[in-house]
Amino acid sequence: MSDMDDAIKPRERDAIRQALGAGVVPKLGLRHLQVGRAREIEELIKDINRIADGGASVRFIIGEKGSGKTFLLNLLRLVALERKLVVVSADLKQDRRLHATDGKARSLFNELAISLATRAKPEGGALVSIVERFIDDVSRGTGGETKALEEAIQKRVMPLQDLVSGFDFATALVRYSRAYGQGDETGKSAALRWLRAEYSSRTDARAAGLGVRDIIDDARIYDYLKLLAAFVKLAGYSGLLVVLDEMVSLYNLTNAQSRTANYEQILRIVNDVLQGSAASIGFLMGGTPEFLLDTRRGLYSDRALQSRLAENRFAREGLVDLSGPVVKLDNLSPEELFVLLKNIRRVFATGDSGKLPVPDEALMRFMEYCYKRIGEAYFRTPRDTVTSFVHLLAVLEQNPSARWQDLLERVDIVPDRPHGAAETPGSDAGSTPAGNPNDKLTTFRL
Ligand SMILES: Nc1ncnc2c1ncn2[C@@H]1O[C@H](COP(=O)(O)OP(=O)(O)O)[C@@H](O)[C@H]1O
Ligand SMILES: [Mg+2]
Repeated sequence: MSDMDDAIKPRERDAIRQALGAGVVPKLGLRHLQVGRAREIEELIKDINRIADGGASVRFIIGEKGSGKTFLLNLLRLVALERKLVVVSADLKQDRRLHATDGKARSLFNELAISLATRAKPEGGALVSIVERFIDDVSRGTGGETKALEEAIQKRVMPLQDLVSGFDFATALVRYSRAYGQGDETGKSAALRWLRAEYSSRTDARAAGLGVRDIIDDARIYDYLKLLAAFVKLAGYSGLLVVLDEMVSLYNLTNAQSRTANYEQILRIVNDVLQGSAASIGFLMGGTPEFLLDTRRGLYSDRALQSRLAENRFAREGLVDLSGPVVKLDNLSPEELFVLLKNIRRVFATGDSGKLPVPDEALMRFMEYCYKRIGEAYFRTPRDTVTSFVHLLAVLEQNPSARWQDLLERVDIVPDRPHGAAETPGSDAGSTPAGNPNDKLTTFRL
């Protein structure tokens, strides 16, 4: 994917440098970095095609911290945008869930609605433009008269009413089109607020004169996601991809009843997809192994989910099985990490494509250095390694007289956190710098 003639745009370069330097996964230009995962990506692109063909899909991307779940989710998000899908994405948190009784699922829907992205607006915030584009399309057939437009919209959104809660969703769209036609900003923002699940009570929504019966509420955000999928189809897009990361937040819910209620929503999604009753919608969920496998608090605590997501017992470590909804990611290998460092170096070099900031030897030395510092675990915490490497290149770039050899002698890699007891046979505690153990990420000290 990252062949040499694939030009790196300045915007991508900046996004990559900034994100990796801050220890987060970039949202743009991921193909320039990508290593490995060819089979997984190929399979997941088939899912995207299936959604675009009117089907549905659900996949759980499962791996340890640092295995590349978020990277893969972000990469697929970009692929989906290229294929004219609309993408919504959010991290789950204590107060952002799939089901709740106190606004916390509404809050997830709100976050998803705000994140709504299209190819033209990959950074999100595209809901208004989709709605307005839809209205403009419909209005082209009506002479521009408000009443006629409203009737035409009413007709176009009719199919939504066949879906659960579709009446209100359609009503909010019609109200938006009226306000849009009349240049009524208050009316527009009221309708948008409804679509983004920003009303916390029916009374408030009714008071805003929207003519709706209900609000997007905590118990049914999956139904509203299906409505959103149906709407983006009407608006000319290929379908909807819903990307949910940090699913371990559900595993971390202490209240068993809340966990169960959330897992029930996941079961609904899985059942709908497996039975073919969802259309033009796909889900990608990233989570750690305990989120899936723990039989007390993970998805496996739900019998039905366990049987649907059961591991293929023949697919051991290092063997792939991509036929089921679970995609397991092994950690990146040291070889892959090496290629990743090369890719990062190439991104840095785009300013001056003839000149690489450091030779291959520096990459090897850097990896050796990381290994010596934190032992074998270093490639399981690639984020730290990557961040330090980006910091190293940044210093070299800004200080033309600096030599990488000298800098490498002074770089300190502090592991993110202890990574299991049985690990790091190669690292003796004494080699870890006596820095602040609470330092969140690797520190690169000069
Ligand atoms: N396939 C990949 N190609 C290139 N870089 C990757 C890949 N997978 C992960 N990374 C990088 O490794 C680091 C950790 O990945 P991340 O997606 O944050 O892991 P996780 O979400 O599983 O904790 C990030 O810096 C990310 O950019
Ligand atoms: Mg992640």
